Amino acid sequence: MKLAVVGGGSTYTPELIDGFARLCGTLPLDELVLVDPDAHRLGLIGPLARRIFARQGHPGRITWTGGLDAGVDGADAVLLQLRVGGQAAREQDETWPLECGCVGQETTGAGGLAKALRTVPVVLDIAERVRRRSPRAWIVDFTNPVGIVTRALLTAGHRAVGLCNVAIGFQRKFAALLGVAPEAVSLDHVGLNHLTWERAVRVGGTDVLPGLLAEHGAAVAADLRMPRALLDRLGVVPSYYLRYFYQHDEVVRELREKPSRAAEVAALERELLTMYADPALDEKPGLLARRGGAYYSEAAVALTASLLGGTGETQVVNAFNRGTLPFLPDDAVIEVPAAVDAEGAHPLPVRPLEPLFAGLVAAVTAYEHLALRAALEGGRNRVFEALLAHPPHRPDRARRPADGRADRAQPGAPAMG
Ligand code: G6P
Ligand code: MN
Repeated sequence: MKLAVVGGGSTYTPELIDGFARLCGTLPLDELVLVDPDAHRLGLIGPLARRIFARQGHPGRITWTGGLDAGVDGADAVLLQLRVGGQAAREQDETWPLECGCVGQETTGAGGLAKALRTVPVVLDIAERVRRRSPRAWIVDFTNPVGIVTRALLTAGHRAVGLCNVAIGFQRKFAALLGVAPEAVSLDHVGLNHLTWERAVRVGGTDVLPGLLAEHGAAVAADLRMPRALLDRLGVVPSYYLRYFYQHDEVVRELREKPSRAAEVAALERELLTMYADPALDEKPGLLARRGGAYYSEAAVALTASLLGGTGETQVVNAFNRGTLPFLPDDAVIEVPAAVDAEGAHPLPVRPLEPLFAGLVAAVTAYEHLALRAALEGGRNRVFEALLAHPPHRPDRARRPADGRADRAQPGAPAMG
């Protein structure tokens, strides 16, 4: 089995490699190719990947290349984990929306739109080249914004599934709180990528969420940095990305006060790359845990194994809606548990979504539709419409410069979420 990782020069790659090495029995790789335009990073991460495999006794061959076409040739699966423009572009996404009193984040709001605009064309070009070289290859997309990127891939007819670590993160967290094995926990996880709620936490077929919230609500709320009362009121556990909606003003204030996540990650990356250069390092360093990608490798291994092995296992993924949430178009991409086999991901039936969540999901779906159209067709008006359709983050209050910092938005300029 051959796998290619596009964006293999990411500092995240050792996390993936560690998963491939540990879970060799689930996903028996013969060959792994790291593809990246950054030869310097590949020169550090490629050899480290080999050392991690060697230490764990994985027999698979690891190579690296700057050439996409050769790298993906004959691959059974291609993982996309690229970041167009690197942390420098992310820094922009995270800062300029703040000037208008809006959240600066790389997957939601105006920053997320900017990222979608520059990422969709690149990913579609890569996918087209994958299709030419390896028409049966599965594309597993981690590239953000995952909902929009997956929708672009599926709409263009690619064999693709979108993946995020939010669900697996909750599964692990709840399992630890409940003192059970992660595999024993299944989630009623519903929504769109980075806009999801855990409506039930099942252990042995019983929903233990009410008891979990009663006993551990404070810890869960603290972890999400949300008020406990909000969780109790909702009766579900929102993903931490819901903070950008539920606590917009507070988040804007916080973001204005501290360095951007992009700057933080850039500093971490410098440190990580120095560590990766050490020929004695043969495991993923603990420092990598300071990035947001915990359990990505487990999720990626499980998903790829199901796609290639046709096991029909249930995984939380991003896939076409196709009637699962009846109030959304069939070609919307939703994030829900799905049966994954050799034909792809098939969302399992979902019980009706409460209006408390459905309104936001419908609005963000409409935004994603318009964002994808803007990314594919370009044009100022299309970009403007996508921004207008994005659910407002209570712009009236958010536009008040709460911290005394000058609000550079023009008076009278339209306030956009
Ligand atoms: C989580 C999200 C990813 C996101 C990452 C950011 O894992 O699910 O979609 O890319 O966090 O982590 P970072 O370390 O780059 O801030
Ligand atoms: Mn994600």
